[in-house]
Parts: sequence; C-alpha cells; structure tokens
Amino acid sequence: SPAFTNQKWYRQNWMTVEFGLVYRWHSALPETLTYDSKQIPMMDSLWNNEMLINKGLGPLFEETCSQPGSKIGLFNTSEFLIPVELKSIELGRQAQLASYNDYREMCQFPRVTDFDQITADEDTQRELKRLYGDVNKIEFYVGLYAEDVPQNSAVGALVTRMIAVDAFSQALTNPLLAENIFNEETFSQVGWEVIQNTNTLSELVNRNSPQQDKKYKVTFDNP
Ligand code: HEM
Repeated sequence: SPAFTNQKWYRQNWMTVEFGLVYRWHSALPETLTYDSKQIPMMDSLWNNEMLINKGLGPLFEETCSQPGSKIGLFNTSEFLIPVELKSIELGRQAQLASYNDYREMCQFPRVTDFDQITADEDTQRELKRLYGDVNKIEFYVGLYAEDVPQNSAVGALVTRMIAVDAFSQALTNPLLAENIFNEETFSQVGWEVIQNTNTLSELVNRNSPQQDKKYKVTFDNP
C-alpha cells in the first residue's frame, strides 16, 4: 500500500455497496405529489427545474414538507418504481452480497430461524416462504424491507442499526470532516461561523430564500 495511508489526513472517500441499498427508500414515494395544491404524477417532477424556479425554494419546501410519504417496506412500491426495484435486487445479486441472515449476524442480531421472526404480517411470511423456502436464502435487500417497522419509526431494526454503523464507519469518516480540513482556515471565519450556527434544514432554506420577511415551515413535525 502507498506510504501515506498511515497519515492522519488520509481518509478514504468510499461508501460500500450495502449502503446504496440500506438507504434505497423507494417505497416512501407515493404515486403522486402535491404541487401548487394539485396532484401531479411523481415522474413529472423529474428533470423539471421549472417546478423549483417558478415556485421558489421556500414555498416549494413548505408544500413538500406538508405532505406525507408512504410507508417504507415490501408491497408498498409505487408502479413507476417497480423497474428500479428490480434493478436493485439485481445489483445485490451481481455484487454477490451475503444473505439477510448473515448481515443480521454481522450486526449482532440473532439469526432468524423462522419467517415469523422477520415480520408478523402473514402475507409477507407466506410470500417469503414461497419464494425462498429457507430463511437463510432471503436476500439482503428483500430481508431489510420485509422487517416490521416499530411504532414511530420509519424503518425496520436492521436498517436502523446499519445506519448507525454507517455514521461511524463511512459518513463521519468523510474526508471533508478530517481535522486538517474541517476548520476555520478552510472555510473562512464567516463560513466557519455559519457552519457552527446552522442546525436545521429549515435554517438553511430560510436563509437562502429571497423573501426574508417570511418564514417558511420546513419540518416534518406536526405542530
Ligand atoms: C422519483 C423519485 C425517484 C426515482 C425515479 C428514483 C430512481 C432511482 C434509480 C433509477 C436508481 C438506480 C437503480 C439501479 O440501477 O440500481 C436509484 C438508486 C437509489 N435511490 Fe432512488 N429514486 C427516487 C427517489 C429516491 C428517494 C426518495 C430515495 C431515498 C430517500 C432514494 C434512494 C436511492 C438510493 C440510496 C439509491 C442507490 C444509489 C447508489 O447506490 O448509488 N431514491 N433511484
């Protein structure tokens, strides 16, 4: 390996293939979205800069935040994303990922021995059994999203744990956060202050909206 890999400024800028699946929350997308109080097909928003330009950053964020996503999990994918999900499953196979159960073990969850330990949903259990026959054969991506989602959570237990693993192994190790880069010299005094004093997406959006007298509601929390 090169001589500098032990230097403290040396950080790899990589993301494992698993995390491209852990964050693939396509079932959160409904078939349509609300734009200017009208329902439009989700696909109409792709490569459509006019939607942003005509409405403006603040109002667009406010309207977007006011509408629900759909539940993340199997059997809840919008029609337009089915081909993408097929590609996602193919990716897992091409990369020869380990099985769902192997990833559970790696994340220090007990291996499942029965379909009813993945989900209480009997239709899902039946379908997994029909397709895989054996719990050890369930693929990573399918197993991740077959799991029941706990009350007040957006994703299942294995997704949640893998996101925590990602924070400490990949996101926070990003080169941008290296101590020799993430400092006032790099960002200037003004830039550094802005970084230190920005805590929410709402602050970011409102700061960059031209109408400074208006505060846009940018949050998924219900008041
Ligand atoms: C209209 C909305 C969306 C469309 C049409 C779309 C489409 C796609 C497509 C075509 C891919 C590549 C699939 C492949 O060949 O493997 C992809 C990957 C991905 N999508 Fe989406 N997506 C949408 C929204 C979202 C949302 C809302 C999220 C998460 C919150 C998301 C997360 C991801 C991730 C993490 C990947 C993998 C990226 C990578 O590994 O490089 N997508 N999406």
